[in-house]
Amino acid sequence: MSTVRSASAVAPSNIALVKYWGKRDLELNLPATGSISVTLDTLLTHTTIAFDTALDTDEVTLNGEPAGTAGARVARFLDLVRDLYGVREHARVETRNDFPTGAGLASSASGFAALAVACDAALELGLSTEQLSVLARRGSGSAARSLIGGFAEMHAGSADDGTDAYAVPLAPAEALPLRVLVAVTTREAKAVGSTEGMRLTEATSPFYGAWVDATREDLDALRAALRDGDLATVGQVAEGNCLRMHATMLGAEPGLLYWNAATVDVMHAVRALRAERIGAWFTIDAGPQVKVLCDAEDEPDVRARLDALAGVTAVLAASPGPGARVVEASA
Ligand code: DP6
Repeated sequence: MSTVRSASAVAPSNIALVKYWGKRDLELNLPATGSISVTLDTLLTHTTIAFDTALDTDEVTLNGEPAGTAGARVARFLDLVRDLYGVREHARVETRNDFPTGAGLASSASGFAALAVACDAALELGLSTEQLSVLARRGSGSAARSLIGGFAEMHAGSADDGTDAYAVPLAPAEALPLRVLVAVTTREAKAVGSTEGMRLTEATSPFYGAWVDATREDLDALRAALRDGDLATVGQVAEGNCLRMHATMLGAEPGLLYWNAATVDVMHAVRALRAERIGAWFTIDAGPQVKVLCDAEDEPDVRARLDALAGVTAVLAASPGPGARVVEASA
Protein backbone atom coordinates (compact mmCIF):
# COMPACT_ATOMS: atom_id res chain seq x y z
CA MET A 1 0.00 0.00 0.00
CA SER A 2 1.39 3.36 -0.96
CA THR A 3 0.96 6.47 1.13
CA VAL A 4 0.26 9.75 -0.62
CA ARG A 5 0.56 13.26 0.78
CA SER A 6 -0.80 15.86 -1.63
CA ALA A 7 -1.79 19.50 -1.96
CA SER A 8 -2.58 22.09 -4.61
CA ALA A 9 -1.52 25.70 -4.76
CA VAL A 10 -1.91 28.65 -7.05
CA ALA A 11 0.68 31.37 -7.41
CA PRO A 12 0.68 34.60 -9.37
CA SER A 13 3.38 35.95 -11.59
CA ASN A 14 5.01 39.20 -10.57
CA ILE A 15 6.63 41.99 -12.54
CA ALA A 16 9.70 43.68 -11.10
CA LEU A 17 9.53 47.49 -11.09
CA VAL A 18 13.11 47.58 -9.78
CA LYS A 19 14.80 44.49 -11.18
CA TYR A 20 16.90 41.69 -9.80
CA TRP A 21 19.75 40.98 -12.22
CA GLY A 22 22.82 39.53 -10.51
CA LYS A 23 23.63 37.22 -7.61
CA ARG A 24 25.84 37.44 -4.56
CA ASP A 25 25.79 33.65 -4.12
CA LEU A 26 25.03 31.14 -6.85
CA GLU A 27 24.58 28.05 -4.68
CA LEU A 28 22.00 29.63 -2.34
CA ASN A 29 20.61 31.82 -5.14
CA LEU A 30 21.13 35.06 -3.22
CA PRO A 31 20.48 38.31 -5.11
CA ALA A 32 23.16 41.00 -5.36
CA THR A 33 20.56 43.74 -4.78
CA GLY A 34 17.04 44.07 -3.49
CA SER A 35 14.13 44.35 -5.92
CA ILE A 36 10.54 45.63 -5.86
CA SER A 37 7.66 44.00 -7.71
CA VAL A 38 3.95 44.03 -8.22
CA THR A 39 2.10 40.74 -7.97
CA LEU A 40 -0.42 40.22 -10.80
CA ASP A 41 -3.93 38.85 -10.35
CA THR A 42 -4.51 37.10 -13.67
CA LEU A 43 -1.20 35.44 -14.66
CA LEU A 44 -1.30 32.29 -12.59
CA THR A 45 0.44 28.95 -12.16
CA HIS A 46 -1.63 26.07 -10.74
CA THR A 47 0.36 23.22 -9.19
CA THR A 48 -0.66 19.94 -7.59
CA ILE A 49 1.95 17.82 -5.84
CA ALA A 50 1.61 14.28 -4.52
CA PHE A 51 4.47 12.79 -2.48
CA ASP A 52 3.94 9.07 -3.03
CA THR A 53 5.87 6.21 -1.39
CA ALA A 54 5.24 4.13 -4.54
CA LEU A 55 7.33 6.42 -6.77
CA ASP A 56 11.05 5.91 -7.28
CA THR A 57 11.57 9.11 -9.24
CA ASP A 58 9.91 12.52 -9.55
CA GLU A 59 7.36 12.85 -12.35
CA VAL A 60 6.72 16.37 -13.57
CA THR A 61 4.25 17.56 -16.18
CA LEU A 62 3.97 21.14 -17.42
CA ASN A 63 0.76 22.09 -19.23
CA GLY A 64 -0.06 18.37 -19.57
CA GLU A 65 3.27 17.36 -21.19
CA PRO A 66 6.39 15.79 -19.62
CA ALA A 67 8.32 18.82 -18.39
CA GLY A 68 11.84 18.19 -19.85
CA THR A 69 14.42 20.77 -18.69
CA ALA A 70 11.93 22.55 -16.45
CA GLY A 71 11.16 19.15 -14.90
CA ALA A 72 14.84 18.64 -14.04
CA ARG A 73 14.85 22.02 -12.30
CA VAL A 74 11.72 21.02 -10.33
CA ALA A 75 13.36 17.70 -9.36
CA ARG A 76 16.45 19.59 -8.09
CA PHE A 77 14.14 21.77 -5.98
CA LEU A 78 12.41 18.65 -4.60
CA ASP A 79 15.83 17.17 -3.73
CA LEU A 80 16.44 20.30 -1.69
CA VAL A 81 13.05 20.00 0.07
CA ARG A 82 13.77 16.32 0.84
CA ASP A 83 17.18 17.24 2.16
CA LEU A 84 16.01 20.18 4.30
CA TYR A 85 12.96 18.51 5.81
CA GLY A 86 13.97 14.82 6.00
CA VAL A 87 11.44 13.64 3.41
CA ARG A 88 12.05 10.37 1.54
CA GLU A 89 9.24 10.14 -1.00
CA HIS A 90 9.39 11.19 -4.60
CA ALA A 91 6.55 13.25 -6.02
CA ARG A 92 4.21 13.64 -8.94
CA VAL A 93 3.92 17.31 -9.89
CA GLU A 94 1.31 18.64 -12.28
CA THR A 95 1.73 22.27 -13.11
CA ARG A 96 -0.13 24.49 -15.52
CA ASN A 97 0.50 28.09 -16.54
CA ASP A 98 -2.31 30.16 -17.94
CA PHE A 99 0.17 32.36 -19.86
CA PRO A 100 3.09 31.69 -22.30
CA THR A 101 5.88 29.75 -20.57
CA GLY A 102 9.56 30.72 -20.75
CA ALA A 103 9.16 33.89 -22.81
CA GLY A 104 9.91 36.52 -20.19
CA LEU A 105 6.58 36.34 -18.39
CA ALA A 106 8.12 35.15 -15.15
CA SER A 107 6.84 31.56 -15.27
CA SER A 108 9.66 30.51 -12.92
CA ALA A 109 8.43 33.10 -10.38
CA SER A 110 4.88 31.78 -10.20
CA GLY A 111 6.08 28.20 -10.75
CA PHE A 112 8.45 27.97 -7.79
CA ALA A 113 6.15 30.02 -5.52
CA ALA A 114 3.31 27.55 -6.23
CA LEU A 115 5.66 24.62 -5.72
CA ALA A 116 6.97 25.92 -2.38
CA VAL A 117 3.44 26.52 -1.08
CA ALA A 118 2.21 23.12 -2.32
CA CYS A 119 5.19 21.31 -0.70
CA ASP A 120 4.60 23.12 2.60
CA ALA A 121 0.92 22.13 2.59
CA ALA A 122 1.40 18.53 1.44
CA LEU A 123 4.17 17.86 3.95
CA GLU A 124 2.55 19.96 6.70
CA LEU A 125 5.79 21.84 7.30
CA GLY A 126 4.05 24.87 8.82
CA LEU A 127 6.47 27.39 7.25
CA SER A 128 5.94 31.13 7.77
CA THR A 129 5.57 33.44 4.76
CA GLU A 130 9.20 34.50 5.23
CA GLN A 131 10.39 30.90 5.31
CA LEU A 132 8.28 30.11 2.22
CA SER A 133 9.84 33.10 0.47
CA VAL A 134 13.34 31.83 1.36
CA LEU A 135 12.43 28.37 0.06
CA ALA A 136 10.87 29.68 -3.18
CA ARG A 137 14.03 31.79 -3.72
CA ARG A 138 16.11 28.61 -3.90
CA GLY A 139 14.01 27.62 -6.94
CA SER A 140 14.11 31.07 -8.58
CA GLY A 141 14.99 34.46 -7.13
CA SER A 142 11.90 36.21 -8.46
CA ALA A 143 9.66 33.47 -6.98
CA ALA A 144 10.43 34.78 -3.48
CA ARG A 145 8.27 37.85 -4.32
CA SER A 146 5.22 35.90 -5.57
CA LEU A 147 4.43 34.83 -1.99
CA ILE A 148 3.40 38.41 -1.25
CA GLY A 149 0.30 40.20 -2.55
CA GLY A 150 0.26 43.79 -3.83
CA PHE A 151 3.71 45.39 -3.94
CA ALA A 152 6.63 43.39 -2.51
CA GLU A 153 10.21 44.20 -1.68
CA MET A 154 12.81 41.48 -1.87
CA HIS A 155 15.68 42.01 0.57
CA ALA A 156 19.14 41.14 -0.70
CA GLY A 157 20.03 40.29 2.91
CA SER A 158 23.57 40.06 4.25
CA ALA A 159 23.66 36.68 6.06
CA ASP A 160 25.87 34.05 4.42
CA ASP A 161 23.19 31.39 4.81
CA GLY A 162 20.53 33.48 3.03
CA THR A 163 18.02 33.40 5.90
CA ASP A 164 17.48 37.18 5.60
CA ALA A 165 17.02 37.18 1.81
CA TYR A 166 13.23 37.09 1.49
CA ALA A 167 10.38 39.28 0.28
CA VAL A 168 8.14 41.41 2.47
CA PRO A 169 4.94 43.38 1.80
CA LEU A 170 5.67 46.98 0.84
CA ALA A 171 2.23 48.34 -0.09
CA PRO A 172 -1.22 46.81 -0.55
CA ALA A 173 -2.69 46.12 -3.99
CA GLU A 174 -4.90 49.24 -3.65
CA ALA A 175 -1.91 51.57 -3.17
CA LEU A 176 -2.06 52.59 -6.85
CA PRO A 177 -4.84 52.52 -9.49
CA LEU A 178 -2.44 50.45 -11.60
CA ARG A 179 -3.18 48.30 -14.62
CA VAL A 180 -0.47 46.23 -16.26
CA LEU A 181 -0.96 45.42 -19.95
CA VAL A 182 1.34 42.72 -21.26
CA ALA A 183 2.05 43.14 -24.97
CA VAL A 184 2.94 39.64 -26.19
CA THR A 185 5.23 39.81 -29.22
CA THR A 186 6.10 36.12 -29.58
CA ARG A 187 5.23 32.85 -27.88
CA GLU A 188 8.63 31.29 -28.54
CA ALA A 189 10.76 30.40 -25.51
CA LYS A 190 13.65 32.77 -24.89
CA ALA A 191 17.17 31.90 -26.05
CA VAL A 192 19.09 32.62 -22.83
CA GLY A 193 17.42 31.99 -19.47
CA SER A 194 17.74 34.46 -16.59
CA THR A 195 20.17 32.37 -14.54
CA GLU A 196 22.64 32.06 -17.42
CA GLY A 197 22.02 35.64 -18.56
CA MET A 198 22.87 36.97 -15.09
CA ARG A 199 26.02 34.86 -14.89
CA LEU A 200 27.19 36.16 -18.26
CA THR A 201 26.36 39.77 -17.34
CA GLU A 202 28.21 39.62 -14.01
CA ALA A 203 31.22 37.98 -15.60
CA THR A 204 31.57 40.17 -18.68
CA SER A 205 29.56 43.41 -18.65
CA PRO A 206 31.71 46.42 -17.68
CA PHE A 207 28.49 48.16 -16.64
CA TYR A 208 27.57 45.59 -13.97
CA GLY A 209 28.99 47.51 -10.97
CA ALA A 210 27.23 50.71 -12.04
CA TRP A 211 23.98 48.76 -12.42
CA VAL A 212 24.21 47.48 -8.83
CA ASP A 213 24.86 51.04 -7.53
CA ALA A 214 22.03 52.59 -9.57
CA THR A 215 19.59 49.91 -8.43
CA ARG A 216 20.09 50.90 -4.79
CA GLU A 217 19.01 54.47 -5.68
CA ASP A 218 16.04 53.19 -7.69
CA LEU A 219 14.87 51.16 -4.68
CA ASP A 220 14.79 54.31 -2.52
CA ALA A 221 12.98 56.31 -5.19
CA LEU A 222 10.38 53.61 -5.81
CA ARG A 223 9.69 53.04 -2.13
CA ALA A 224 9.02 56.78 -1.71
CA ALA A 225 6.78 56.95 -4.80
CA LEU A 226 4.72 53.98 -3.61
CA ARG A 227 4.35 55.56 -0.19
CA ASP A 228 3.03 58.73 -1.90
CA GLY A 229 0.71 56.79 -4.24
CA ASP A 230 2.49 58.57 -7.12
CA LEU A 231 1.94 56.43 -10.23
CA ALA A 232 3.84 58.74 -12.58
CA THR A 233 7.02 58.49 -10.50
CA VAL A 234 6.58 54.74 -10.06
CA GLY A 235 6.31 54.43 -13.86
CA GLN A 236 9.31 56.67 -14.48
CA VAL A 237 11.54 54.81 -12.01
CA ALA A 238 10.43 51.43 -13.40
CA GLU A 239 11.09 52.41 -17.03
CA GLY A 240 14.50 53.87 -16.21
CA ASN A 241 15.52 50.85 -14.15
CA CYS A 242 14.44 48.49 -16.95
CA LEU A 243 16.49 50.39 -19.53
CA ARG A 244 19.54 50.38 -17.25
CA MET A 245 19.21 46.61 -16.77
CA HIS A 246 19.01 46.06 -20.54
CA ALA A 247 21.95 48.42 -21.11
CA THR A 248 23.96 46.30 -18.67
CA MET A 249 22.91 43.09 -20.45
CA LEU A 250 23.78 44.61 -23.83
CA GLY A 251 27.24 45.30 -22.44
CA ALA A 252 27.87 41.58 -21.78
CA GLU A 253 30.09 39.54 -24.12
CA PRO A 254 28.31 38.40 -26.22
CA GLY A 255 25.67 41.09 -25.66
CA LEU A 256 22.28 39.85 -24.48
CA LEU A 257 19.57 41.20 -26.75
CA TYR A 258 16.15 40.04 -25.56
CA TRP A 259 14.14 42.44 -27.74
CA ASN A 260 12.62 41.83 -31.15
CA ALA A 261 11.38 44.51 -33.57
CA ALA A 262 7.90 44.53 -32.03
CA THR A 263 9.39 45.01 -28.55
CA VAL A 264 10.99 48.24 -29.77
CA ASP A 265 7.77 49.31 -31.53
CA VAL A 266 5.89 48.97 -28.24
CA MET A 267 8.52 51.05 -26.41
CA HIS A 268 8.10 53.85 -28.96
CA ALA A 269 4.30 53.59 -28.80
CA VAL A 270 4.42 54.01 -25.02
CA ARG A 271 6.64 57.08 -25.33
CA ALA A 272 4.24 58.49 -27.96
CA LEU A 273 1.31 58.01 -25.55
CA ARG A 274 3.21 60.00 -22.93
CA ALA A 275 3.87 62.77 -25.42
CA GLU A 276 0.06 62.93 -25.76
CA ARG A 277 -0.24 63.19 -21.97
CA ILE A 278 -1.50 59.66 -21.46
CA GLY A 279 0.39 58.16 -18.51
CA ALA A 280 1.99 54.91 -19.70
CA TRP A 281 5.41 53.41 -18.92
CA PHE A 282 7.10 50.20 -20.07
CA THR A 283 9.14 47.55 -18.39
CA ILE A 284 10.74 44.48 -20.00
CA ASP A 285 12.31 41.41 -18.42
CA ALA A 286 14.57 38.74 -19.93
CA GLY A 287 12.34 38.25 -22.95
CA PRO A 288 10.64 40.11 -25.78
CA GLN A 289 7.28 40.90 -24.13
CA VAL A 290 6.59 44.42 -22.93
CA LYS A 291 4.67 45.14 -19.74
CA VAL A 292 2.97 48.52 -19.95
CA LEU A 293 2.04 50.24 -16.70
CA CYS A 294 -0.87 52.70 -16.76
CA ASP A 295 -3.67 54.21 -14.73
CA ALA A 296 -6.80 52.02 -14.83
CA GLU A 297 -8.64 55.01 -16.32
CA ASP A 298 -6.30 55.11 -19.32
CA GLU A 299 -6.46 51.38 -20.04
CA PRO A 300 -8.80 51.63 -23.09
CA ASP A 301 -6.56 54.22 -24.81
CA VAL A 302 -3.37 52.31 -24.04
CA ARG A 303 -4.84 48.98 -25.12
CA ALA A 304 -6.12 50.44 -28.41
CA ARG A 305 -2.62 51.71 -29.19
CA LEU A 306 -1.02 48.33 -28.42
CA ASP A 307 -3.67 46.38 -30.36
CA ALA A 308 -2.93 48.53 -33.43
CA LEU A 309 0.73 47.41 -33.57
CA ALA A 310 1.29 44.68 -36.17
CA GLY A 311 3.87 42.77 -34.10
CA VAL A 312 1.72 42.53 -30.97
CA THR A 313 0.00 39.12 -31.05
CA ALA A 314 -2.00 39.49 -27.81
CA VAL A 315 -2.50 41.90 -24.94
CA LEU A 316 -3.02 40.41 -21.47
CA ALA A 317 -4.29 42.60 -18.66
CA ALA A 318 -3.69 42.37 -14.94
CA SER A 319 -4.04 44.35 -11.73
CA PRO A 320 -2.12 44.09 -8.48
CA GLY A 321 -3.45 40.99 -6.70
CA PRO A 322 -2.98 38.50 -3.87
CA GLY A 323 0.08 36.30 -3.31
CA ALA A 324 0.51 32.52 -3.57
CA ARG A 325 -1.97 30.37 -1.66
CA VAL A 326 -3.11 26.81 -1.06
CA VAL A 327 -6.27 25.90 -2.91
CA GLU A 328 -6.81 22.37 -1.66
CA ALA A 329 -4.89 20.05 0.64
CA SER A 330 -5.28 16.43 1.65
CA ALA A 331 -3.19 14.53 4.17
C1 DP6 B 1 14.65 40.07 -15.45
O1 DP6 B 1 14.24 34.93 -10.89
O2 DP6 B 1 14.17 34.10 -13.26
O3 DP6 B 1 12.79 38.97 -14.47
O4 DP6 B 1 16.91 33.35 -9.72
O5 DP6 B 1 18.19 32.60 -11.72
O6 DP6 B 1 15.82 31.86 -11.42
P1 DP6 B 1 16.83 32.95 -11.18
O7 DP6 B 1 16.36 34.20 -12.02
P2 DP6 B 1 14.91 34.83 -12.20
O8 DP6 B 1 15.30 36.27 -12.73
C2 DP6 B 1 14.37 37.29 -12.91
C3 DP6 B 1 14.99 38.37 -13.70
C4 DP6 B 1 14.06 39.47 -14.18
C5 DP6 B 1 13.99 40.60 -13.15
C6 DP6 B 1 13.14 40.34 -11.93
O9 DP6 B 1 12.13 39.62 -12.00
O10 DP6 B 1 13.49 40.93 -10.89
